[in-house]
Amino acid sequence: MIPKRLLLPLLFVALCSCQNHKYIQARGVIKDSAMVVSARIEASTIGAEILKKGGNVFDAMIGTELALAVCYPYAGNIGGGGFMVYRLADGSTGSLDYRERAPAAAHKDLYLDSSGHYQQDLSKIGGLAVGVPGTIAGLFEVHEKFGSLPIEMLIQPAIDLANNGFVVTEQQAQRINKYGSIIEATSGGSSLYTRPYKTGDTIKNPALAKTFTTIAQKGVDGFYRGPIAQHISSFLQEHRGIIDTTDLANYRAQWRTPITTTFQDLTIISMGPPSSGGICLSQLLGMLEDHDLSTMAHHSSDYIQIIVEAERRAFADRSHYLGDPDFVTVPSAQLLDRDYLQQRMSDFTSEKATPSSEIGYGTLPTYESDETTHYSIVDPKGNAIAVTTTINGGYGAKLFDDDLGFFYNNEMDDFSAKPGTPNMFGLVGGQANAIEPGKRMLSSMTPTIVERDGAFWMSLGTPGGSTIITSVLQVILNTQLFDMPLQQAINEPRFHHQWLPDMVRFEPQRFDSLVLKSLENKGYVIHQKESTIIGKVDAVMRTADGRLEGGADPRGDDAAIGF
Ligand code: GLY
Repeated sequence: MIPKRLLLPLLFVALCSCQNHKYIQARGVIKDSAMVVSARIEASTIGAEILKKGGNVFDAMIGTELALAVCYPYAGNIGGGGFMVYRLADGSTGSLDYRERAPAAAHKDLYLDSSGHYQQDLSKIGGLAVGVPGTIAGLFEVHEKFGSLPIEMLIQPAIDLANNGFVVTEQQAQRINKYGSIIEATSGGSSLYTRPYKTGDTIKNPALAKTFTTIAQKGVDGFYRGPIAQHISSFLQEHRGIIDTTDLANYRAQWRTPITTTFQDLTIISMGPPSSGGICLSQLLGMLEDHDLSTMAHHSSDYIQIIVEAERRAFADRSHYLGDPDFVTVPSAQLLDRDYLQQRMSDFTSEKATPSSEIGYGTLPTYESDETTHYSIVDPKGNAIAVTTTINGGYGAKLFDDDLGFFYNNEMDDFSAKPGTPNMFGLVGGQANAIEPGKRMLSSMTPTIVERDGAFWMSLGTPGGSTIITSVLQVILNTQLFDMPLQQAINEPRFHHQWLPDMVRFEPQRFDSLVLKSLENKGYVIHQKESTIIGKVDAVMRTADGRLEGGADPRGDDAAIGF
């Protein structure tokens, strides 16, 4: 029985939610054959040009990723790592893990002082925050297995871009100017990214062009062995780092079996550990499939509530069970078992919020920054990839190597720096993700490919730390349950819950205030932070008439280029 005092507000909520069905049907870039969607138009264009020259999706990956390292230094990189999920035109699938690793000298107490206190800055800023980079190893691994054009030809466009320069966007000028002083303090002097820039300026990076030229000439060893490796090792050690030339020489990318699950007539193929993305996304879809979401109005209080409760439970499992599968046993099959997922939701009630203190193990996800980048590519033969790559925080460890022309990651912060003890955000990490030499830190990156009725339907992913998983989920649900065109599904506002802290994050001023009030009345803590966006989803979808829609997130400077 609904109390009388709530009847009027609930009626409004229902009406407002129904109006959401009248959303403007935004469409992305529609093309016949091929599509590249990334964080920058230069990178998407370079990827599309490679495809036009007869390159395949993997050739385009190399050009796109290196171009992002030039013109999107905030997250694009060769000083970080990433994950790639692929689906070939014949239906076969796989994934590549080129995530960073802890150096051999790392240990579980790396960020603790002699009294056992967590020194938070050390895992975020400067040389000690850096994990052994995996990007160049990943690109060469991809090329060796699937590449069709000579690697020099795939690296050359990024060399040209670095030499000729790229034009600074408004968002970019704001970011560089905001971070310039911390980059200068961390790197120990002025450099390319400590100067003030304004919209429309051109940034050239000849040092990075030279690094790329060495890699093009000498191959993967041009980065991981010899003068560049020696320079990386001494540069990092001058900045309190511990990575040495042996760590670099020992780095290998790993082919891994992706996580595959079903939802209605969809098959979802996503990244497995050391990313939590595929398992969490599959758990969420598994928990939600038993509840008929399509009878609920989009972004109504009921719809948001059931998704939030599933997220609470999936993230509680994430923190306890997930880590690098080369170091810990991840019980993937049990976590994805449908009976288990049904049982996880058995205490759900639409009457009120379930407090996070009543769920899970009391250990929680590590803090993850929002800065990462994703691109999706489909080639004319129908091969598809989804790639998410990161240096973790914006400009990574804020450590710019002026001689080599790139930023180093601060991925070590994705480990649980002190399992069982709250970090600066009041969060506690689990043992499964404790620091060990050579181990990969747990990630939330969720590069994902979706099949519908056994055929390629969508490739998608996003930056956003822990919000990556829930952003990918919402775009899949928007397209599948509400028949939104891809671009509209991306444009829709997003919300996020991650078990702890026990609050629901909403993109500010984008949700109906009566819906938020109704959730508050049920006990949810609503958090709307000014100027906060949740994710920047870049995706490609096969349309009903067999063409391709490229959806670039308007929250960033992202661009879809196809033909
Ligand atoms: N550094 C963000 C992630 O890997 O999830």
